[in-house]
Amino acid sequence: MAFITSGAAAVSGASLTARRAFTGAAVCPVPSGRTSPAAATWSMSAGGLRTFLVGGNWKCNLSKDAITSLCKELAAAPDLETDKVEVVLAPPTPYLDHTRSVLRQDFEVAAQNIWVGGPGAYTGETAAEMIKDVGCTWVILGHSERRNLLQIRESDDFIAQKTKTALSHGLKVMFCIGETLEEREEGRTLDVCVRQLHALAETIGADDWKDVVIAYEPVWAIGTGKIATPDQVEEVHEKIRHYLAGDVNDKVAQETRILYGGSVSPGNCNELAQLPDVDGFLVGGASLKASFLEVIESFKSDLAATV
Ligand code: PGA
Repeated sequence: MAFITSGAAAVSGASLTARRAFTGAAVCPVPSGRTSPAAATWSMSAGGLRTFLVGGNWKCNLSKDAITSLCKELAAAPDLETDKVEVVLAPPTPYLDHTRSVLRQDFEVAAQNIWVGGPGAYTGETAAEMIKDVGCTWVILGHSERRNLLQIRESDDFIAQKTKTALSHGLKVMFCIGETLEEREEGRTLDVCVRQLHALAETIGADDWKDVVIAYEPVWAIGTGKIATPDQVEEVHEKIRHYLAGDVNDKVAQETRILYGGSVSPGNCNELAQLPDVDGFLVGGASLKASFLEVIESFKSDLAATV
């Protein structure tokens, strides 16, 4: 499915200054049977439409004691204006319950995975109902480590089905997408992102997108210290929004938050937070330390860039 190519996208200086006041015709070809976005014109109303969100993905790290200590350090921070920034932390499954009990109440807890169906004879799996039962409100799905690790290899369709299951149980979903280095070098970045998103668009209804946040995480930037440039990030985020306008609808394109993930740190978050189509971050390594608070605080750079 060659919907769009990275070469077609360009970051306009105007979009960087006119924070979320974008008006433009979408340009992404869409699958047959859908409305062409070429005719769609939609605008981003300024301010408040998409609350900044910072997720911390602890992956397969930390211990019960380490989580207790980290949560204490996070709690020591002053009021974070959580009406302006939403914070979600994702511990390993065995620590979900414990994290919920020691984490400050204005932060939410996410699982890093769920089973595609309900409870039953599924050894080693965790059902959405169980995640909800211990006070989690989110789940991360489609992370590149689950899509690409040879031992796991989750397919687009499986991830879309899991997302549908999560949403049907009232969990919100951070839906991760992104290209490998090889795919980027072959000019297939946007084809890959659209393929991953289209699997979801075919599986959930337009109304379901209100509980979905997209996390664009180029695989080559995850855990490598090699961050995508602001131009590379904005280019993909803007095209994702155009794609949503065409394959779903204008409202979803306007309202869906698109996070960036991949080597985000206190040193680079403020510049990225100012980009018009960046609505927050999904953070791995830098979320394991109390300095994660500095990444959360980057919502102020986002607000300052809003016109
Ligand atoms: P990183 O991981 O911040 O360590 O690069 C991001 C992620 O995998 O979500």
